[in-house]
Amino acid sequence: MIRIRRPDEVAKIRASARIVAEALDLSSRLVRPGLTTRELDQKIEELIRSRGATPSFIGYHGYPAASCLSVNAQVVHAIPGDYVLREGDIIGVDVGAYKAGYHGDGAFTFPVGEVSADARRLMEVTRECLRLAIEAVRPGNRVGAIGHAVQTHAEKHGFGVVRELVGHGIGERMHEEPQVPNYGRPDSGPTLRPGMVIAIEPMINLGTHEVETLEDEWTVVTRDGSLSAHYEHTVLVTETGSEILTVLDRAVVDESPLGSRG
Ligand code: MF3
Ligand code: CO
Repeated sequence: MIRIRRPDEVAKIRASARIVAEALDLSSRLVRPGLTTRELDQKIEELIRSRGATPSFIGYHGYPAASCLSVNAQVVHAIPGDYVLREGDIIGVDVGAYKAGYHGDGAFTFPVGEVSADARRLMEVTRECLRLAIEAVRPGNRVGAIGHAVQTHAEKHGFGVVRELVGHGIGERMHEEPQVPNYGRPDSGPTLRPGMVIAIEPMINLGTHEVETLEDEWTVVTRDGSLSAHYEHTVLVTETGSEILTVLDRAVVDESPLGSRG
């Protein structure tokens, strides 16, 4: 069952999602050559706790950290550790916050210093995929419209769309119905209704779409070793379109294709 959230529930998800946005904003200022992923994770955890929230990821199926910090060919779910960021890396920062019974979830991929033209293009196209996906969110559209928007844009640029991991409904649990794939037909999946809250998270590879999981049973990497980018917003379906909740200030996406901020 896909939950339709009451306004008081939306307010709580919005509050958690804003903390996620704060953590990503902090990350954008901290990411630099020489920083270890463990140090970044500790700062993220401190920020989340300082806002009276708990990191959603800690303890999730035994996950040991507050964030997933995925560098270069790591797609998602890489565990923070001793890795020292280097000029030219790209790092996907994925954060969840839980407060007053509700989760928010978001991710952003940052360049470390100067990065290659390929890396910049991949990040740009993946952000565009998320923006186009959010523009497909409006009552009456089906969940497949979201994945269709992502897949069409990514494949137009020759990039691979990760199939094994999907976006998701979010609320009292981090992962709820519906699944939100980043591929598919617009006339597939459940119909979006005002009050639904979903996390949309395209994962796009410079090369093949194929991925594999490392022996740590968490880190997902591209099979061909190519770069991968990941952006995620928690999004409310409104009467007229959508509202991005993982933002520092309120962002409304209406029916106009130009009226959005990804
Ligand atoms: N943010 C991820 C998602 O969107 C979940 C991270 S997995 C965890 O599905 F184990 F780290 F929590
Ligand atoms: Co998510």
